[in-house]
Amino acid sequence: GKNGYPFYMEKEIMEQPDAIERTITNRITSGMPDFTADGVPDEIFTQCERVNIIACGTAMHAGLVAQALIKSILHMHIDVDMASEFMYSDPVIDEKSLVIAVSQSGETIDTLEAVKYAKKRGAKCLSIINVKGSSIARESDYVLYTNAGPEIAVASTKAYTTQLAVFYLIVAKMAQLRGVFSQEETQSFIRELQRTPDVMKKVLEGRQEIHKLANKVLEAKDLFMIGRGLDYSILLEGSLKLKEVSYIHSEAYASGELKHGPIALITQDTPVVAAVTQEKLMSKELSNIKEVRSRGADIVLFIKESLAKDIDRAYDTFHLPDMQDEFMVMPASVALQLLAYYVSSDKGFDVDKPRNLAKVVTVE
Ligand code: F6R
Repeated sequence: GKNGYPFYMEKEIMEQPDAIERTITNRITSGMPDFTADGVPDEIFTQCERVNIIACGTAMHAGLVAQALIKSILHMHIDVDMASEFMYSDPVIDEKSLVIAVSQSGETIDTLEAVKYAKKRGAKCLSIINVKGSSIARESDYVLYTNAGPEIAVASTKAYTTQLAVFYLIVAKMAQLRGVFSQEETQSFIRELQRTPDVMKKVLEGRQEIHKLANKVLEAKDLFMIGRGLDYSILLEGSLKLKEVSYIHSEAYASGELKHGPIALITQDTPVVAAVTQEKLMSKELSNIKEVRSRGADIVLFIKESLAKDIDRAYDTFHLPDMQDEFMVMPASVALQLLAYYVSSDKGFDVDKPRNLAKVVTVE
């Protein structure tokens, strides 16, 4: 049942601290990432020369976060492909490729077909999946289950953040095995990951503040979400979540790209949701926010608490509890999920069953 919540989506958002705990706890030994119980051998992480992440929708957005981390931490060649495009794009795939397929249901036909194709080309396939024994799990060489528990709402929430948690474990494992992190660095990365459930709880405790921010976008027909780097990756997901449950047209844009076209659409009728969680990108990001503000847009700002001190009070702001910058996607994702949820429920929609959407997509 819904455990007293009006919708599964809210229940599943609230479950995330526990879900993350379940995803990571049994995969940490003496503070180090450990996939022994999953039967995933170290060689797949050391023998590959490149990584290909294949997924659809929200699962692909988890892949985009992983791509940013793998590039910056491991300095490896990594592609993220929409499963529906993958095999028609003549991808470079061979024995030196590690393919990571990501899927909540494990039944998405495009992702399944992409895995079969990659295996035929000689790639090793590791999957990140929620549903045990599903088709993609069976087709893969190795599986890391997300252990999020059943996800009933059509809009994916806890599956996404547990996929991210598995990716942090993979990054730690690869960095350790490939000599990028020392043992101490690996342990400190893992310790930060272990803070996630508590940090998410803080966001959840502040949910009424996010509910108020939802009012600011309730009447919008069109909306933009802007950010740079990791913030852009999570806004792609925040934007998908908002459009599918609230039917508001929302576009995520890398802030620096705005002036190359879409800024023509910014008026007082297009609210802008901005995320600022990456210290090194902050000053550029803030000037992009000023640009859209000066064209009349109302700003809803999600900002890392410790970066928020000098920010103009003209913005409606939610302070995200601090983590190290590369982990800020965890609190930010929960906040964006809540925003989408409150917009949908305040509009009186059937949050769990958006029109035209199915939980499992088995047509190409
Ligand atoms: C959005 C959503 C979809 C799925 C996509 C892939 O909230 O749920 O975008 O993420 O259909 O589904 P899975 O992960 O089951 O392969």
